[in-house]
Amino acid sequence: MSDPLIQPGQVICRTGQLEPGGLAFRFIVFYEELCLRIKIPISVEDHLPAFVVNYQGNYYAYLNRCAHLPMQMDWNPGELFDDAKRYLVCATHYAVYEPDTGVCISGPCRLGSQLVVLPIRVIGEDIILL
Ligand code: FES
Repeated sequence: MSDPLIQPGQVICRTGQLEPGGLAFRFIVFYEELCLRIKIPISVEDHLPAFVVNYQGNYYAYLNRCAHLPMQMDWNPGELFDDAKRYLVCATHYAVYEPDTGVCISGPCRLGSQLVVLPIRVIGEDIILL
């Protein structure tokens, strides 16, 4: 099944679909609309892959686009956490990211670089893209 296209205001997935430190839920965002709203500092494609994860019971969404090179980061679809379920790790060159901020803390990314945060809100059991 292909990843769903989620528009701002739509439900990405339900909280019960995400285990802490488990598989991410992958989706697609329409870039131009988000770019206007949150000033994403990249350009090129109209639609971009994204994901939401559960980290220690809180939910975080990012573009699935490594800060080192513009590549998706999964080891297998949705596999982004390390074995300890502590960090997000890019499968290509092993950049390591804090799950709650998207800041790269080691690996080949530039110092201070980070994943592009997507704004979400949890209402009840729904995780909504803002
Ligand atoms: S593309 Fe992610 S670490 Fe190089």
